[in-house]
Amino acid sequence: MAEAKYRTPKGTNDVLPEDHQYYTYIKKAVRHRCRQAGFKRIETPTFEKREIFERGIGEHTDIVEKELFLVSSHHSEEGSEEYALRPELTASICRSYIEQGMKQLPQPVELYSIGSCFRHDRPQKGRYREFHQFDLEVIGLTDASLDAQIIHVANKIFADLRIRDRLTMQINNVGTADNRKEYIAALKDFFIGKERNLPELDRKRLDTNPIRLLDSKEEDTQILLKNAPTLDQFIDEDSKAYHKTVLEYLDELGAEYVENPSLVRGLDYYNQTVFEYWDIDTGGKNAVGGGGRYDSLIELLGGQPTPGLGFAGGMERTIWHMKQAGVQAPHKDQIDIFVAQLGPKAKKKCLSLISELRDQGVHTLGALGEASLKSQMRLADKFGAKYTLLLGQMEVKTGTIILRDMALGKQEEIKFEDAVKKVVKLLGPENLDTYTLNDHFEEK
Ligand code: HAM
Repeated sequence: MAEAKYRTPKGTNDVLPEDHQYYTYIKKAVRHRCRQAGFKRIETPTFEKREIFERGIGEHTDIVEKELFLVSSHHSEEGSEEYALRPELTASICRSYIEQGMKQLPQPVELYSIGSCFRHDRPQKGRYREFHQFDLEVIGLTDASLDAQIIHVANKIFADLRIRDRLTMQINNVGTADNRKEYIAALKDFFIGKERNLPELDRKRLDTNPIRLLDSKEEDTQILLKNAPTLDQFIDEDSKAYHKTVLEYLDELGAEYVENPSLVRGLDYYNQTVFEYWDIDTGGKNAVGGGGRYDSLIELLGGQPTPGLGFAGGMERTIWHMKQAGVQAPHKDQIDIFVAQLGPKAKKKCLSLISELRDQGVHTLGALGEASLKSQMRLADKFGAKYTLLLGQMEVKTGTIILRDMALGKQEEIKFEDAVKKVVKLLGPENLDTYTLNDHFEEK
């Protein structure tokens, strides 16, 4: 590794085969739970007009102000840096809802997406510049039961991945835009004359996005906030009633939650319900997932007023928790059979044997090189093959093949035409890697 001339860009990772097993496992759980709940999969481009994110997520959020990856092109006739890599999936999906006329479909439209997102943050543990989200959106209807249901689906996904008990689900209601406007005015009032006591970052926030002070990690800010007006004093009666209903529905579903009046989220488009999945020990620092209602976002992006609600989980943080919990992602990457051969005739004959074994769902490697049978056997061992099939010049003549059990070190001569049947029997039909076309298309 030390001599590598090129390395992954800062804050990005190679997803190596060992980790891919986790990604595949998570995607399976997400697909399964989404399908059960009537969600359909959507994929949007990895980059969009930067304006979509700036308007949608909010110009004074960290994500837009500091973390947007701008895409510049030397060849662009439309001017450079007009596009940005997506920092999340919600704004893109809402853009698609408007552009593709999804308003004509029965509402709500339930969509899910899995893909990479980009935020130019300072890389650290659990915080990457390229990361992956699984994202669920419910667009076109406001009903507290939808809020409870999407949380329930997210709960099930985390439970399927066996990490739900490592997390708490924090929930709050941030009211309407007007509620927050009034609150922000009161908060600014409160801080008049106290600005100097705020750490620099929060002093800036007081100007640009004061509500973010609530979840500031700075101790000084939190001390000052103890005497500040609180958001819940400004939430109107309708929002309070809505929140109460969401909680009642969650109770009905047996979904656990922690009411957190300081939870405000890092994106501006939310109103009413917001929620986040926190590490039970370390809290909000590296949330594993989060979401909420965004009833003005579609209008903000130029569509008809249309309510929406969604959730996104972070794959890397989910995987971290799975590993901490000792959850092994099952994998199917083992090599079952290694086919070793000697001589050009044997090599030729092996090719269709290998192909047929693979078609039967046997993971097969072989017909590699011209080395001696002995060194091919060593290679088979290194690949961890369970059995080796050996075809030398003699066997070609007699229509036989040698089958060797690598663990036991025992071998027997069998008829060449019986080889596939015999191997399938030895491995057991339940261990064969067969697929239906449907599954194949969905695997990604
Ligand atoms: P978010 O809270 O910004 O929400 O991100 C959701 C999840 O993405 C986080 O909880 C975390 O697991 C993961 N994540 C975010 N940034 C990073 C990073 N730099 N490195 C690793 N993982 C990260 C949203 O993105 C909203 N679009 C969620 C939503 C959907 N709201 C409504 N619909």
